[in-house]
Amino acid sequence: MANLFIITCFSLLLLVVLVSSPVASVPLEVGFYRKSCPSAETIVRDTLKKAAATDPAIAAALIRLHFHDCFVRGCDASILLDSKPGKPAAEKESMGNKGVQGFEVIDEAKARIEAQCPNTVSCADIITFAARDSVFTTGGTYYSAPGGRRDGTVSLASEVIKNLPDAFFNATQLKTNFARKGLSLEDMVTLSGAHSIGDSHCSSFSKRLYSFNKTHAQDPEINKAYGGYLKSKCPNVKNGVDPVVAFDPLTPTLLDNNYYKNLVSHKGLLASDQELWSSDLTRKMVKYRRNHPRKWGLEFAAAMVKMGSIDVLVGKQGEIRKNCRAVN
Ligand code: HEM
Ligand SMILES: *[C@@H]1O[C@H](CO)[C@@H](O)[C@H](O)[C@H]1NC(C)=O
Ligand SMILES: *[C@@H]1O[C@H](CO)[C@@H](O)[C@H](O)[C@H]1NC(C)=O
Repeated sequence: MANLFIITCFSLLLLVVLVSSPVASVPLEVGFYRKSCPSAETIVRDTLKKAAATDPAIAAALIRLHFHDCFVRGCDASILLDSKPGKPAAEKESMGNKGVQGFEVIDEAKARIEAQCPNTVSCADIITFAARDSVFTTGGTYYSAPGGRRDGTVSLASEVIKNLPDAFFNATQLKTNFARKGLSLEDMVTLSGAHSIGDSHCSSFSKRLYSFNKTHAQDPEINKAYGGYLKSKCPNVKNGVDPVVAFDPLTPTLLDNNYYKNLVSHKGLLASDQELWSSDLTRKMVKYRRNHPRKWGLEFAAAMVKMGSIDVLVGKQGEIRKNCRAVN
């Protein structure tokens, strides 16, 4: 009787742990399409390669696309759905997804895959594979990306801002935001290293240059020379002009640990980047990743796999979209 009681309690506890963990211990599987669509991952890689030849910015875009997909309703390709007339706006219309790109590359990979194996490969998996290949082609660590995600049928712009981290979050807020997705503080610091490639619109950080707070026009955490450089790139004009600036001026297309070196020298672009060095919560983690590039690369790969399993739909959940921009 006592045994049964203990077992029951344990099962309930286990259930609570499983149900409350967004990073699912789910049947995602490396080589998921080995039998059903053996060329799926190769097609994604080839499509990316072709796109990258004319647009070197595409890799950064696809890594960010994966992040923004996974943080809103899980990695279910909800970010790809177009708005429909008369229906609430879709995720991609949200200000939180400003500047998100890469949709055409996903469309092309999907079209080529559908031609070979119709109704088989999810758009969510295509984003995942494209992000993995983008990490590798920009000099990051290669990793096996498990597949088996299914596509969602709901996409709401109203859900974006409350799920994505804000560029002015402090370390505690960043920690809470990632914890809600089952990601640790270490994962957050590790994944932020993605800001070693790609760029940001001035509007995402210009407050740091011109109107930081009541006593400081400029964020005192910005290196003096770097602040001057940013101001030259982002003049304080309010005419709708919004240029972009590279996250890492030194190696803007290389996914390396230069991000952490920049933070140590107060050259973080976003307030949320520099915050990782300012805060006692995360400073040691930044130092470690600055000093151990190879370990950071491996951790980054592992954290991408973890991020790729947030709230995924599997088995008979969701659907395999025919067109990534619309539900079937
Ligand atoms: C830690 C919290 C994070 C915040 C607050 C944040 C915020 C931002 C912002 C504001 C931009 C620039 C948008 C623009 O103005 O054009 C950006 C770009 C980018 N983010 Fe993040 N991000 C975070 C984490 C991540 C993560 C976890 C990843 C992926 C693993 C990521 C990947 C990227 C990439 C690659 C770009 C450049 C995109 C491009 O060049 O097209 N970010 N992020
Ligand atoms: C972080 O931001 C939150 C929300 O604005 C605030 O309550 C908290 O005090 C801040 N934490 C630190 C360490 O500044
Ligand atoms: C402005 O920011 C600086 C640096 O973070 C801080 O020391 C100061 O107290 C802030 N001032 C106000 C009025 O919030």
